[in-house]
Amino acid sequence: MLAELDQLRAQAETDLAGVQSALELDTARVRFLGRQGALAQLGERMKSLAKEERPAAGKKLNEVRTAVTAAFESAAQRFAARAEAGALAGVDVTLPGTPVLPAGALHPLTQLQDRAVQIFRRMGFALADGPDVDDEFHCFDALNTPPDHPARNEQDTFYLPDGRLLRTHTSTVQIRTMETQPPPVRVISPGAAYRRDEVDATHLAQFNQMEGLVVDEGVTVADLKGTLEFFFRELFGAKTAVRFRPHFFPFTEPSFEVDLKSPALRGGERWLEICGCGMVDPAVFQRVNGSRGDQAYDAEKYTGYAFGFGLERLAMILLELPDIRLLIENDVRFLGQFR
Ligand code: DAH
Repeated sequence: MLAELDQLRAQAETDLAGVQSALELDTARVRFLGRQGALAQLGERMKSLAKEERPAAGKKLNEVRTAVTAAFESAAQRFAARAEAGALAGVDVTLPGTPVLPAGALHPLTQLQDRAVQIFRRMGFALADGPDVDDEFHCFDALNTPPDHPARNEQDTFYLPDGRLLRTHTSTVQIRTMETQPPPVRVISPGAAYRRDEVDATHLAQFNQMEGLVVDEGVTVADLKGTLEFFFRELFGAKTAVRFRPHFFPFTEPSFEVDLKSPALRGGERWLEICGCGMVDPAVFQRVNGSRGDQAYDAEKYTGYAFGFGLERLAMILLELPDIRLLIENDVRFLGQFR
């Protein structure tokens, strides 16, 4: 028995010293130290030894178990060190690591547009759409804008060789919506608009607007005022003051420009011009009827209001931006502030 124990110890130490893989290491552990392993079996056999032989055998068994366990642990350690060295082979730990990039986010202008759309949707507005490349009829004539109006000048508008143009405002969508659906109408339309402007701190040649149109029986200036007041108070805070100044647009009569001031803004005592609006001019309904070939927009029966504002300008006021170009330069140091 004592000799067998010595032999087992020698065998285990040799085997464990030569282990090459995690699997071999585990196999050796089971074979020598496991519950059915060699040491356990010898322990079992101790019961059949003569009484006087047992103390010596027991002592030896303990010594061997300690030695084999130690051999196992040193093999495990050696093996772990080797696995780590293997994983690091060929890796230059002095090189800079791969940066973990922060998650992206929507552009601040998109975030603002989404907010604006949400507010109008709560008031029952649907989304309407129209093409960026449109024609003079939808951009000017149907909107009661005469041929000699400065907005139609070649210096102000991008014309294509075929006579079409890049829309100078999203008001085109008013016409396109009325052409395709009879009253009642209650839509907003965010989208790009284009002007031959010199790009500077407050102008871009391509920018974004949000257009609104409501046509129904009995629509009044009070509805227009209430709607826009609610909208701007949602955006700029409940203490926002909104003022309607008489103005002129060819497609509305009467027309207004809307100013606001809000204590939530720096320099909150200044009136800021923010939006154009008015009651749809009956001449516009007439043009739409002509284009539809019916009398769906009967000016005796229906009235409507329309409004339009620039999203960049709204963003500049809300985010207190000094330069509109920040919104198109894609500088992550700027954009990263609006995640
Ligand atoms: N289209 C105008 C612009 O680009 C804005 C505007 C003014 C839109 C009055 C409207 C409106 O719908 O009724 O400056």
